Amino acid sequence: MHKGANLPIHHPSWKLLEAHATAMRETHLRTLFSKDVDRGQRLTANAAGLFLDFSKNRITDETMGLLCQLARESGLQAKIDAMFRGDKINTTENRAVLHTALRAPEGSTILVDGKNVVPEVHAVLTKMASFANRVRSGDWKGHTGKRIRNVVNIGIGGSDLGPVMAYEALRHYSDRELTFLFVSNVDGIDLAEATRDLDPTETLFIVSSKTFTTLETMTNAQSARDWLVNAFAGDRTSVAKHFVAVSTNSDKVSGFGIDTENMFGFWDWVGGRYSMDSAIGLSTMIAIGPDNFYEMLDGFHQMDEHYRTCPHDRNLPVIMGMLSIWYTNFFDSHAIAVLPYENYLKRFPAYLQQLTMESNGKSVTLDGEPVSYHTGPIYWGEPGTNGQHSFYQLIHQGTRLIPCDFIAFAQALTPMGRHHDILIANVLAQSEALAFGKTAEQVSAEGTPEWLVPHRVFEGNRPSNTILAQQLTPAILGALVALYEHIVFTQGAIWGVNPFDQWGVELGKALAQCILPELESVAIPELSHDSSTNNLIHKYREMR
Ligand code: F6P
Repeated sequence: MHKGANLPIHHPSWKLLEAHATAMRETHLRTLFSKDVDRGQRLTANAAGLFLDFSKNRITDETMGLLCQLARESGLQAKIDAMFRGDKINTTENRAVLHTALRAPEGSTILVDGKNVVPEVHAVLTKMASFANRVRSGDWKGHTGKRIRNVVNIGIGGSDLGPVMAYEALRHYSDRELTFLFVSNVDGIDLAEATRDLDPTETLFIVSSKTFTTLETMTNAQSARDWLVNAFAGDRTSVAKHFVAVSTNSDKVSGFGIDTENMFGFWDWVGGRYSMDSAIGLSTMIAIGPDNFYEMLDGFHQMDEHYRTCPHDRNLPVIMGMLSIWYTNFFDSHAIAVLPYENYLKRFPAYLQQLTMESNGKSVTLDGEPVSYHTGPIYWGEPGTNGQHSFYQLIHQGTRLIPCDFIAFAQALTPMGRHHDILIANVLAQSEALAFGKTAEQVSAEGTPEWLVPHRVFEGNRPSNTILAQQLTPAILGALVALYEHIVFTQGAIWGVNPFDQWGVELGKALAQCILPELESVAIPELSHDSSTNNLIHKYREMR
């Protein structure tokens, strides 16, 4: 097969979708709903406790048929099977992609290089559970014999965003006797503020880093170690009871001074942004307890099985992934807003930023050919109703088409008066307003002066998905995260890119290593950057 033969633009469905999109761009959701009375019931799907209403999208049955044809012509099912089987689909790093093995039930078999990895996964989970129980019960003691009351996760990217998101999302289930803090930024303020009010004798640091070489994490870990050792009058043996590590790199962990007995491992086939359910979730497990953590894994697994086995026209990650292709490639839409109407999910959009954009922010195919179509959209969001009083204006009346994913729950975790009904009234109102808008006639009929009418018109026809679940449980969180992981996979499979490497972060890291000594040197450095960077380095040296 010649290079680029499997590009989506060469599939018959792509041309058909282009022609179909020309008609659909002129079709209003008002028309689609009035011509099809069952649409709101029909264009729905269920999986792993999530109910998806995708009826408020600018689609017909023909659209979905063509999108499924594109998925078929792109070999999506074969690609899904290859991932689940443990094939080395991350070709640029020659690695398998097996975050799905992290939640495979005990007793199942997944082979990497001929070795079943499931027993190792469960061995690490058991070790995590034993440690988490010891910290939670007070059996794990600090250097002076006091129990641990504060847990500080030090990590960045996937070694931070997953843990902090999951902790916030599942706070309802967490042990309130323990305080959890997350330090990621190399800006010293992050660590200084986190440790400011902590008693070192009661504090446990979890240094989370797949590579154990990441500049930010190692800098923070060293400063945290200094903070601790200073508090113990220079006694370095204190580190043993106050530092544990999560990593794939045991040499670096012991080099740092952490006993590998207190290291929780994972594997090169788990990408950082796909690792919150590996040992990287140690802080989550300490917070919510092993039983809740296992429940979360079960939610992930249910969504995995749905993705692997369900026909594409009823498959949530396929439907949502293909809809994002529809808007990105046929409506020139550049962004997707994720809007959880659940305050516990406040860090979910930030988590998704890395998952989606570090994965599919790519412009060459697996063959190294430049793509001639857009790939990863910008994902961002805020919890509702806060976003409504901020950026929703642009989504309602701006010039750009921004599909939205609304996420809501039938039951509040802490019911309080009318709060939950008010919250849900708002999420339903937003998707209705976006889809159907308000015409000039409707605005005029309300007695609006003519000159004001254009300002008050809502064009509508703005698409959205609504995901509804019973309640935010650990299992539902697992299912939600797996849903977006597989949406990302679906997108990558269609675009023909590799969602599992991140070479784009390397250049900046290398340049920072080159600039750092130029900032720190006592002698005025000889600079060979561009004139702007040279000047900024000189300015910084003058001003600091
Ligand atoms: O720089 C990007 C990145 O490699 C992410 O992909 C990863 O999640 C993060 O850095 C942290 O890496 P590590 O866990 O190795 O410290």
